[in-house]
Amino acid sequence: IYESETFYSLADELGILIWQDFMFACALYPVDDYFLDSIQTEVTHQILRLQAHPSIAVWSGNNENEGAIANNWYNITDFKRYKADYVTLYIDNIMNITQKLDRTRPFIPSSPSNGIETQQEGWVAKQPQDIHFGDIHHYDYGTKSWEWNHYQIPRFCSEYGFEAWPSFENLEKVSVKEDWNYNSEFCDHRQHHGDGNKQMVTQLGYYLNLPSNPDPVQQFKDYIYLTQINQAMSIKTETELFRRSQSTVVNGVGMTMGALYWQLQDIWQAPSWASLEYGGKWKMLHYYARHFFSPVLVSPYIDGAVLKVVLVVDTLSSGRVLQKSGNTLYIQCYSWDNLKPLYTWAQKVDAPKVAASQIFQANVTAMLKTAKCSSLQHCVFFFFLNDVHTEVRNWVFPVTLKTAVGMKKPNVTISAVTQKKPQTYQIKLTTAAVSPFVWLEANGILGRFSDNGFLMVQSTTNIVFYAWETTDLNSLKKALSVRSLMDVYK
Ligand SMILES: *[C@@H]1O[C@H](CO)[C@@H](O)[C@H](O)[C@H]1NC(C)=O
Ligand SMILES: *[C@@H]1O[C@H](CO)[C@@H](O)[C@H](O)[C@H]1NC(C)=O
Ligand SMILES: *[C@@H]1O[C@H](CO)[C@@H](O)[C@H](O)[C@H]1NC(C)=O
Ligand SMILES: *[C@@H]1O[C@H](CO)[C@@H](O)[C@H](O)[C@H]1NC(C)=O
Repeated sequence: IYESETFYSLADELGILIWQDFMFACALYPVDDYFLDSIQTEVTHQILRLQAHPSIAVWSGNNENEGAIANNWYNITDFKRYKADYVTLYIDNIMNITQKLDRTRPFIPSSPSNGIETQQEGWVAKQPQDIHFGDIHHYDYGTKSWEWNHYQIPRFCSEYGFEAWPSFENLEKVSVKEDWNYNSEFCDHRQHHGDGNKQMVTQLGYYLNLPSNPDPVQQFKDYIYLTQINQAMSIKTETELFRRSQSTVVNGVGMTMGALYWQLQDIWQAPSWASLEYGGKWKMLHYYARHFFSPVLVSPYIDGAVLKVVLVVDTLSSGRVLQKSGNTLYIQCYSWDNLKPLYTWAQKVDAPKVAASQIFQANVTAMLKTAKCSSLQHCVFFFFLNDVHTEVRNWVFPVTLKTAVGMKKPNVTISAVTQKKPQTYQIKLTTAAVSPFVWLEANGILGRFSDNGFLMVQSTTNIVFYAWETTDLNSLKKALSVRSLMDVYK
């Protein structure tokens, strides 16, 4: 659908830019006079209606139809004819109308597409997914998705994503007890993407041990939690790679100038690519997006034997989190079984001159030696800029968590809840060990936390809950729960 006035007005106000597709997607369309007449009316109407909105950044003829013809999704035998129809519809008609009515914005015929390269190839490129041109869409459900070097580096990734299940709280409303099993008919029925349920388990299985709780309902909840971890970690890994790649060209690829993950929100209670559940509750991915899309990002990764850190700054002015000079990047090495860091490195950092610049690199084996950590299996690296309480923090797991050594049951607990303002509550958490994927929920109370799904390396931390509906301290205390990764296992 073309969205409502309210939608575009809000986007204008919030500074959100919109890639506006015309309503053609993943199909072949006719070009008879009646149809062309109808789309001329439609396109003209929408451009006149929407062009005054500053939030519209680009008009796009269709979604994936250039690729569908180029890669012959529909087993067409008369390529020439379908290519000619494509040009008639999107170029001679829709592009013509758009460029006539709105000269202020770029028009791209399709997404993914190759820009001028596509034009030079007669509007249907041999490979619209070419990473050297225009944009790509990327989906791969077999890949080791927490590893940055399993991804391609395009100029712009305008779609990419991984699925996860929504919360038990939401599923419970549309199911009965017999359904609460990852292999139930209900779970099959709600999954509308082929082998999606299996793919999620395959991917998370590369990194985490699978749930085996003898209580089937608990096991189902554990699967939900792990699929959310997998989705959040995968899209974090991919997005950070894209943002790190925006100022360099390496081996002919790079200068990645955009990342739009698929997708924002759900239309029912089901597993999907969305980061917002039906009803608005945030999946773990949505909390991660606040970090991996934040204007200032510290992005660490291990490249062979070397730990590297890239600082990404997508803001025009230095601000509270990043000063012009005198910033410090702290890198801490923790042993999984100890809340006291083994070693802390401090590196001075000036505000960078380009959007993404490497600010640290060191031989990771040498770092472990300095920290007196016995092996990669035993340790985790934690990063923050200037102040441990900053939002600019990150971590690197040097090995898959299922092969890590020394992880303890951290016993994360909610030790206090206090009301700060109407609808705003502070939650104090304590942990007895380094704890990955600390996950808070307020069952039955709509709202969001200031952070969630994070790595907890300090014995206490304060999280804020912003309620979206009227509640009170006692109801919230009853509704709150917290868990972390090791709670899945015996
Ligand atoms: C195209 O042909 C392949 C191979 O015969 C088949 O698997 C696929 O389902 C067909 N696709 C369509 C859209 O008919
Ligand atoms: C589209 O514009 C081109 C160039 O101005 C013109 O040659 C062509 O006839 C136009 N097509 C239609 C359908 O108006
Ligand atoms: C990294 O450091 C270790 C230990 O100091 C050393 O043995 C190894 O050769 C170094 N590797 C590289 C690639 O420099
Ligand atoms: C968590 O609690 C269990 C049970 O009381 C205890 O055995 C374990 O040592 C605790 N974990 C830590 C890290 O202290």
